[in-house]
Amino acid sequence: MDGAKKPDVSLAGLLELVEASTLASIKGTVSGILSLISDPAASSFDLIQLIEVDPPLAAKILRVANSAYYATSKTISDIHQALIWVGFDTLKEIILTQKVSELYRGGTPVCGYSRLQLWRHSLAVALLAKTIYRREFGEKGNNAYAAGLMHDIGVIVEDQLLHQEFMQLVQTMEDTPRALSDGETALFGYHHGLVGRGLAENWNFPAELTDGIGFHHNPEGAREEHRMFVKTIFIADYLMFEQGYGYVAMPLPDREILQQYVRDLGLQWYALRAIVELVREELGKIEQKGYLIA
Ligand SMILES: [Fe+2]
Ligand SMILES: [Fe+2]
Repeated sequence: MDGAKKPDVSLAGLLELVEASTLASIKGTVSGILSLISDPAASSFDLIQLIEVDPPLAAKILRVANSAYYATSKTISDIHQALIWVGFDTLKEIILTQKVSELYRGGTPVCGYSRLQLWRHSLAVALLAKTIYRREFGEKGNNAYAAGLMHDIGVIVEDQLLHQEFMQLVQTMEDTPRALSDGETALFGYHHGLVGRGLAENWNFPAELTDGIGFHHNPEGAREEHRMFVKTIFIADYLMFEQGYGYVAMPLPDREILQQYVRDLGLQWYALRAIVELVREELGKIEQKGYLIA
């Protein structure tokens, strides 16, 4: 295929490689946070316990809580203070963000793709999906944030574990415009949605999140009860790509699909545009304060 060498790794084989790799190091904390997000009875005590067993993470959380982004006049010196200052929900998000960001470090930019760009994209989609949930559906949106943050986790798996082939694929995308999923399917026999879904299943993510990751490019494939959720991730992904928060050269899907999903969710374009503007401002602040990668 277009100069890229076909790797001899099946989807099941790749998922086994994930478990044996450093990628799996985030599994415990990420699964822990996700169960705290979906458990209405979870307390701040559970959250603190999760952080206290991971001293490097605790140090990072304090650094973030003390950063200019969360500007405070006094120094936050322990997790209990951080919890009071930023609040339970935000602290859950900070932990998830910090832990997941560990997978996106390093790498060399190739033809418009880099791990940093992918991370920036993931954060942008997380913020937009969450804000749509908060402002339009009147819900907290923690799961939407988590799904946004990890929807392209399959891409980082390919980048890390099928590195050479993935880089060749990215290079061919410049000359052969097509959706990344199509390029992946032609080369690997599977795409990043399937890789992410397999990882999410192996790590026992909640079903809604697993569908959000697995079907973010084709929400119609998701279980009926999760379809609106997955469509929100699709919309956030589409709009942030369009706003310059993409990570690879590829054409966007037909805009009519986006418009259909916006109608399905009962969203108004003027409201959506205002939310996108809000998220862009937020992302600008994040980048300015150097909080993009901790
Ligand atoms: Fe994707
Ligand atoms: Fe994406």
